[in-house]
Amino acid sequence: MRTLIKGGTVVTAAETMAADVLVEDERVAAVGSDLGAEADRIIDASRRLVMPGGIDVHTHMEMPFGGTFSSDDFASGTAAAAWGGTTTIVDFAVPDFGESLQTAAQRWHDKAGPKAHVDYGFHMIVREVNDQTLADMDSLVGQGITSFKLFMAYPGVFMVDDASLFRAMSRSSDNGALIMLHAENGGPIDVLIERYLAQGRTAPVNHALTRPASMEGEATHRAIRLAELAEVAVYIVHLSSTDALNAVREARDAGAPALAETCPQYLFLSVDDLARPGFEGAKYVCSPPLRPKPHQTELWNGLRSDDLQLVATDHCPFHFKDQKQAGVGNFAKIPNGLPGVEDRYTLLYDGGVRGGQITLNRFVELVAAAPAKLFGLYPRKGTIAPGSDADIVVFDAETERVLSAATHHMNVDYSCYEGRSVRGVPEVVMQRGQVLVDHGKFLGHPGQGQFLSRSRSGM
Ligand code: URP
Ligand code: ZN
Ligand code: ZN
Repeated sequence: MRTLIKGGTVVTAAETMAADVLVEDERVAAVGSDLGAEADRIIDASRRLVMPGGIDVHTHMEMPFGGTFSSDDFASGTAAAAWGGTTTIVDFAVPDFGESLQTAAQRWHDKAGPKAHVDYGFHMIVREVNDQTLADMDSLVGQGITSFKLFMAYPGVFMVDDASLFRAMSRSSDNGALIMLHAENGGPIDVLIERYLAQGRTAPVNHALTRPASMEGEATHRAIRLAELAEVAVYIVHLSSTDALNAVREARDAGAPALAETCPQYLFLSVDDLARPGFEGAKYVCSPPLRPKPHQTELWNGLRSDDLQLVATDHCPFHFKDQKQAGVGNFAKIPNGLPGVEDRYTLLYDGGVRGGQITLNRFVELVAAAPAKLFGLYPRKGTIAPGSDADIVVFDAETERVLSAATHHMNVDYSCYEGRSVRGVPEVVMQRGQVLVDHGKFLGHPGQGQFLSRSRSGM
């Protein structure tokens, strides 16, 4: 099967050129001008940007949290991803207490395999560090699960102590895995939560007030020092604040391999959303929390200077009705997490490129090329070049639309960006040569996505 994507502007992290793209079966066969090749199908890309499919390296489909599960499963979540121009996700597998990482990985394979519409890989969460989990980490690296997330927050649930962190980091210096950290100092945060609740301060905004940026900065700094001691790189997930960014920046300036992602919610939303009247703020409860607006300016600076390497979503949706509402009268019971997998590509294009914050090539780097490189998928994914997977978005960069729960495809009853007007529509979304989205029609099917056995990080 030969498909010719004709007459568009091809954009990668490195260049922008008027070119056709020839796709043969699952791969890009050629990129060049006037590829007059015989094709079975021609996609007209005139006046369109032709860009790599997005790679979202931070999602939580069907994740157990606070007695419930995030509301997207691999079917609804990956369909929504495709609608939004994302053709690869890397999801976090979660072991139960005492469960081997190997068993947890199999559970995630069982969940994703029959349902996923787009290609997917896994990170593994490590909530207990012992001889068995360390040995499991080695095996999983051999099976293409090459990154592990540990938590410095949520005592009694996910948090591990510094000795455990250091052990896991030291092991990764032998097996080549990348350690990812949720960097917030969970001990003092829990004391503050107790204190606030005892004082009757129960509204959603108190979620942010009990998780100050200083505690994210402190944990980020500590994580980087521990990684230096173990002589490994470290990757900070969902970085939200100037305090944490400063810790990463200082380390990078000194030549240390400190890496970090931020997420659209930290660029476009703020603590003012958490402080919306009544219980509305619960829609915006995630950890780390949304920050005051000046942090946004610094995060954009970090994206431009490469102190932040990429933008992922931390997609972890919970319905407002029934799920978020568990926290009425107690903000600590609101399940943590926001929907976002569908909106990242267009939001970052609209607010980032059109908003004058980043170049078009940097946009592609942040949403596709850098995630592929850091998570062992490049050059198969993250670019448009001969031999790479034909994961391609034909993007209408001009048409205006309004983000809304009424029109999105994520299985969640609200949108964090309800009513926000954006320019940009992923008009045709192709994954390995198959069209998943075609001018508003969904053509994908569950089980079409393949598991990606990832290489070690190519930082
Ligand atoms: O609030 C969040 N971020 N929920 C998802 C779990 C995590 O810590 O990434
Ligand atoms: Zn986290
Ligand atoms: Zn997360």
